Amino acid sequence: MTAQGLTPREQQLVHQHLDAAGANLFWQQDVADQRHAFVVASRVATTLPGDDDAHTAALLHDVGKRLAGLGVIRRSIATVFDGIGIPLTAAMRRYRTHGSVGAAELSAAGFDGIVVSFAANHPGPAPHGVDTNRWSALLEADG
Ligand SMILES: [Fe+2]
Ligand SMILES: [Fe+2]
Repeated sequence: MTAQGLTPREQQLVHQHLDAAGANLFWQQDVADQRHAFVVASRVATTLPGDDDAHTAALLHDVGKRLAGLGVIRRSIATVFDGIGIPLTAAMRRYRTHGSVGAAELSAAGFDGIVVSFAANHPGPAPHGVDTNRWSALLEADG
């Protein structure tokens, strides 16, 4: 599985959308995660036009993954092990908890609202107080 790095035009779109702190977290991701986040954000731009915060949430929702330091194969293994109840290694556990790890980082970087909440709670149901249509659009874009 190889992912295409973002083109100069796509990189420019990311920079137009994120502040320095957000861009810093975004570019620390693996190329595959950058591509994934960009695709999710592009879908959100279509389904939630003009919703800048949802777009930012899409770009940054998986930043916690990079701290796990797992490649694609071991990530898949972690997902399968977790699904059938096999105990995970510490790195696998971090990968499986990338949402809350990323949310803590985003919060420390000054983000709040849907950006932190989507990182923390995806792919679960909408937390209390979050618009369910907005949440569904984000989840579908991430699916
Ligand atoms: Fe995720
Ligand atoms: Fe994702």
